Amino acid sequence: MQLSLRQLFLRHVAQTSPAPLALEIVKAEGIYLYGANGEKWMDLISGISVSNVGHRHPAVLEAIREQLEKYMHLMVYGEYIQSPQVALATRLSSLLPGLDNVYFVNSGTEAIEGSIKLARRATGRKKIYSFRDAYHGSTTGALSLMSNRYFTEPFQPLLPETHHLEPGDWNEIEKIDPETAAVFVEIVRGEAGAVPADPGYLKALRQRCSETGTLFIADEIQTGFGRTGPFLACQDAGIIPDVLVLAKGMGGGMPIGAFMSSTKLMRSLYDHPVLGHITTFGGHPVSCAAATAAFDVVQHLDTRKIVPELEQIVRERLKHPAILEVSGRGLLLSVRFPSEAFAQKVISGCIANGIITDWFLFAPDRLRICPPLTIRKDELEDACSLILKSVQAVYAAEQ
Ligand SMILES: Cc1ncc(COP(=O)(O)O)c(C=O)c1O
Repeated sequence: MQLSLRQLFLRHVAQTSPAPLALEIVKAEGIYLYGANGEKWMDLISGISVSNVGHRHPAVLEAIREQLEKYMHLMVYGEYIQSPQVALATRLSSLLPGLDNVYFVNSGTEAIEGSIKLARRATGRKKIYSFRDAYHGSTTGALSLMSNRYFTEPFQPLLPETHHLEPGDWNEIEKIDPETAAVFVEIVRGEAGAVPADPGYLKALRQRCSETGTLFIADEIQTGFGRTGPFLACQDAGIIPDVLVLAKGMGGGMPIGAFMSSTKLMRSLYDHPVLGHITTFGGHPVSCAAATAAFDVVQHLDTRKIVPELEQIVRERLKHPAILEVSGRGLLLSVRFPSEAFAQKVISGCIANGIITDWFLFAPDRLRICPPLTIRKDELEDACSLILKSVQAVYAAEQ
């Protein structure tokens, strides 16, 4: 008997949980995903903050096609002069003063790994801080930055000398001392449920890092590329990090990641030892071409203006006795319900009603609203009506 695609998926494609969404998608375009049985879903999660410019943006497709005609992989990262890497690095270097050197990798977690190594190598220190319920990735080093014991315990021992700070607790800032190599910071903690950091606290943290020679490492993997309004969230927070970490929306749908710093700092990875960090596929030319196109699209979108307007629609529309809070910034938003069970039922109802949404790793009582930044106001209004319909259905059933 021939197995269905679904059966083959469940049997041969490694699963990450016992309950995958298992929607069969045959096409994606703009803000929509299309199913094998004629379904059409509005994508309110952008593949988890990836499709900022929408699915298959024409400019991204064009850049990919053009690059395919020239070359794909040529050599391990860093040896040949490849114009797609140079074009992208030059654009990224224009974002923040002093951060003019880009190390390209393939994913967010790999960019975090590179940053951990850079921090240890450059400072000669081992101690690293991150924040409670921050998410920086799933490889062993990045996982060491995670506070949640449920996810980390089975993989111990992880990296030594990794500790967690309570977000916004001013007293704990003193823990950052001259022995500390780095502090990893999300300006909006994505997987904690889209929780923005207090701007005054961020400034104090930045200052403490400068005083102690500790690297302030901004993980903008989820907040970058216009997701919160400005191109980078740290621009509006008035923070210039020592290291900036990027991925997700960067590639316009293609896999790529990067960590950036001053040239002087980055040079600590190129001698003693030489090849202090290496990757075969990092900065793949096709991904770089796609990312350069996506960069330009985001810049032309005027996200600083349109993203707060779209945020406002969500905040104004999503009012209901079962909605306890809408939190986040720009189009990195969460909707909090009375319980995890309530949220899961609303999410299922949304998917049945043509809206793809999701929960957050450390906040399962919240629903995710992170659509492509190209979503129109009327489309977002329709999405809010459908969410409210699902909320009301669950609410009415519980009364
Ligand atoms: C803030 C943040 N950092 C790092 C990562 C890890 O990125 P990747 O899944 O590309 O390894 C994620 C992924 O969700 C993230 O949200």
